[in-house]
Amino acid sequence: MSTDSAQATERRRTLTTVLSTADAIPVTEGADPGLAYGYAGELKAMLIPAEMLQAKVSELARAVADDHAGDQPPVLVCVLKGAVMFLTDFVRALPIPAELEFMAVSSYGSATSSSGVVRILKDLDRDITGRRVIIVEDIIDSGLTLSWLHKNLASRGAASIDVVALLRKPAAVTTDIDVKYVGFDIPPEFVVGYGLDYAERYRDLPFVGLLAEHMYR
Ligand code: PRP
Repeated sequence: MSTDSAQATERRRTLTTVLSTADAIPVTEGADPGLAYGYAGELKAMLIPAEMLQAKVSELARAVADDHAGDQPPVLVCVLKGAVMFLTDFVRALPIPAELEFMAVSSYGSATSSSGVVRILKDLDRDITGRRVIIVEDIIDSGLTLSWLHKNLASRGAASIDVVALLRKPAAVTTDIDVKYVGFDIPPEFVVGYGLDYAERYRDLPFVGLLAEHMYR
């Protein structure tokens, strides 16, 4: 491995915070973070508090800006709906100009695991030929959505495609896509909040929590 790529690998490693189930703070009757948002009794634990999320978003934005400074503004492709909270905070923390595009794809509806079936619900509004593209994802779970999206955008002639993902689950390590910027490696738990839903609920939470089993079993 060259010195440059060894440094890049080390930087990526330190960018990603690894969280285990033991890092989650269990919800108690007296301290339920869902209560203030109308979700009392629906979460079992707090995994990533709002302040920790915001600090990580800033860190990711600085890393992306360092690698893209001086280039033509990158096109940020936000994958709706889950990534919308992350995108809006990320782009405001990004110290370089960027253009915004939105795509909506569906991989698993309201079930709790990926189906591998990806379809476009909303496409890009513009041509990305010759542009540097950064896919902004909230979570990489099985990696199927990202793998499909990467190929799809590459086929449109993007000059380069990087990926910034706030969260990554263990199953995603098998994906064939090189994800340059990852905020948190998280345990294989059912996570909600900060854009992530279960049956369209919980996206509005400013933190990432673990859904109580009785809500989906
Ligand atoms: C979620 C998430 C990713 C994808 C990741 O989207 O936002 O796009 O699943 O899963 P994968 O790595 O297993 O493919 P979802 O299809 O639930 O739509 P949403 O963003 O509208 O909630």
